[in-house]
Amino acid sequence: MKSVVIEQPGELVLAERPQPQPAPDEVRVRVTFASICGSDVHIWHGHNPFAQYPRVIGHEFFGVIDAVGADVDASRIGERVAVDPVVSCGHCYPCSVGRPNVCKTLQVIGVHRDGGFSEYAVAPAQNAHRLPATIPDKLASLVEPFTIAANITAFLKPQADDIALIYGAGPMGLTAIQVLKGVYGVRQVLVVDRLPERLALAQENGADRVFNNSEFPLAAQLEGVQPTLIIDAACHPAILAEAAALASPAARIGLLGFSGEPCSITQQALTSKELSLFTSRLNSNRFPQVIDWMEQGLIQPEKLVTHYFPLAEIARAMTLFEKDPRTCCKVILQMD
Ligand code: NAI
Ligand code: MN
Ligand code: ZN
Repeated sequence: MKSVVIEQPGELVLAERPQPQPAPDEVRVRVTFASICGSDVHIWHGHNPFAQYPRVIGHEFFGVIDAVGADVDASRIGERVAVDPVVSCGHCYPCSVGRPNVCKTLQVIGVHRDGGFSEYAVAPAQNAHRLPATIPDKLASLVEPFTIAANITAFLKPQADDIALIYGAGPMGLTAIQVLKGVYGVRQVLVVDRLPERLALAQENGADRVFNNSEFPLAAQLEGVQPTLIIDAACHPAILAEAAALASPAARIGLLGFSGEPCSITQQALTSKELSLFTSRLNSNRFPQVIDWMEQGLIQPEKLVTHYFPLAEIARAMTLFEKDPRTCCKVILQMD
């Protein structure tokens, strides 16, 4: 089978590899569509601290189950599935409190083990979520990025009368906009980015007001409006201090970033307004919820997609995705 392998940092190849066999409790998926994420690019360039090499990348993928391991019901063969990349032990402290995404021995498919930019991939049977016919193959890999928004909003508990502010209108910011508007019915969703093209996408994805902070600071443009719910989906370490300064008293702030650089902020900036800070990593069993949202038409994954490429053009697809945020948002690979 053909697989996208990062042999070592900087070295991406489309390699011929043996087809994996599903272990007991695993299924094998014949992958048909997979989407590119910033973290795939980071693994390629050696900037993901968790990645081990060589690695088949890809953690956003969809396909059909074509083989099952010893303890899996053979009737699952033929199921159309989206695969949750979060593989957890099921019994450590975080797993026991419903937070398998921060399992003490967390393994992420496409990061710690081989992933879905490949004609076939294996995964624990419980990670393969059956999709209703109403979700088309070519959009089904987008369940995963929406689970990030599902996870952080579960902490933030958005209300219709919140004034929400989202930093960053990349894929993560856009999924957050759609979930705040379509699922939670938040009436005011404000979005800030530095690229006008990304802000136009934010509007297409439901943002009520957009702000470009490339020349003028956001504070000056908000004219005293104090957001009650803030999501940092741009993830520069300087954003937390600005968000705390702009926030309404009693606001909630959600952080998604993984930067190793310190955030500089005083206790006073947080405590004087009694701000709540939530962090969110990947997703804790949120595939069923997102699949349900898609089936109900509450979110529109097609609004994120700008490009489709065949697997053979992986290097071109990854380079375009990385270098051209003005024209690219979600880039989807087609395997066959
Ligand atoms: P992206 O790079 O496509 O989007 C980021 C957007 O933020 C860009 O449009 C950029 O112009 C904008 N931006 C950057 N600095 C800004 C600033 N100071 N003010 C306003 N806008 C600014 O990335 P993507 O895929 O949307 O991911 C966003 C972040 O989320 C990344 O840092 C990624 O590591 C993180 N992430 C976290 C996950 C988690 O589970 N916690 C999962 C996936 C991504
Ligand atoms: Mn992703
Ligand atoms: Zn665990």
